[in-house]
Amino acid sequence: MASALSGAGRSYRHDSLAATPDKCTLGRVEVKEVCHEYLSPTDKTPVAALGPVSLQVSAGEFLCLLGPSGCGKSTLLMIIAGLFNPTAGTVVVDGVAVTGPSRERGVVFQDYALLPWKTVRSNVALGPRLAGASRREANQVADEFLELVGMPQAGDRYPHELSGGMRQRAAVARTLAAKPKVLLMDEPFAAVDAQTRGVLQEELIGIWARTAQTVVFVTHSVEEAALLADRVVVMSTGPGRVQEEFPVTLPHEDRFSRESATRVAEVAASLLASVRTAQPRRPRRGGSWSG
Ligand SMILES: Nc1ncnc2c1ncn2[C@@H]1O[C@H](COP(=O)(O)OP(=O)(O)OP(=O)(O)O)[C@@H](O)[C@H]1O
Ligand SMILES: [Mg+2]
Repeated sequence: MASALSGAGRSYRHDSLAATPDKCTLGRVEVKEVCHEYLSPTDKTPVAALGPVSLQVSAGEFLCLLGPSGCGKSTLLMIIAGLFNPTAGTVVVDGVAVTGPSRERGVVFQDYALLPWKTVRSNVALGPRLAGASRREANQVADEFLELVGMPQAGDRYPHELSGGMRQRAAVARTLAAKPKVLLMDEPFAAVDAQTRGVLQEELIGIWARTAQTVVFVTHSVEEAALLADRVVVMSTGPGRVQEEFPVTLPHEDRFSRESATRVAEVAASLLASVRTAQPRRPRRGGSWSG
């Protein structure tokens, strides 16, 4: 089978995996003063979960969102995806305000979100089918992306027949196969074993280097952020805000090498120090708060 990265023998938009001169002109994301409130499940009063948050993601940039549990990373990602409207503020992609979901913004959810009644191949083929590929072409693309995520034999299986890690890999393949301009990934590798995670991280960087898709990638892992990001935004809780930004200037092609391990670890250590200060304050004995 042709490699999913080779681009050989395909017609539907498949040349988009090849480098093109204008590849970095689309996919600019602007988050402007975005706030979000949820209704409290108990008394239905509004609870501020996020914001105000403002940030820009350049076309072709790989941005990691890092921060403690509950700081609003998934909420922000879903708002960028257009899956729900923020309580205040706007998200603009390539100059156009986001008002709902679009195939140009692909999401890998924290909890897989595969269609249970479709085979894994049909799930992955969905994006190409929606983009106009024939069933045969879409299935071919699906098989290539399944091979890419290390599951070449899984096409005929159903999501419930897969392990959690395999479901997550299938969800990654499905989103990549749709070739969105903006790739929104919510802890996509959290459920897979360490060895597979390393392979998927490196493959993702390989794909990103060729397509120059804009990526917003949520993670809890400072090591993962140091390996992947052009820039890391550390968020704090209560409600979620941007606490600090870290550009990561190590060349991507070197980050997975043994020689770079020390420098990547230094970046991860700086990120960890920032995340520690972003943790929610815990009550001290006697009811006062520690800083
Ligand atoms: N549907 C909902 N209804 C009420 N509150 C919600 C809802 N979804 C999220 N929240 C609250 O909003 C806040 C932000 O949640 P969110 O899931 O965005 O955080 P997160 O940073 O992605 O956390 P994690 O790292 O654990 O995935 C949390 O306090 C959460 O309890
Ligand atoms: Mg989350």
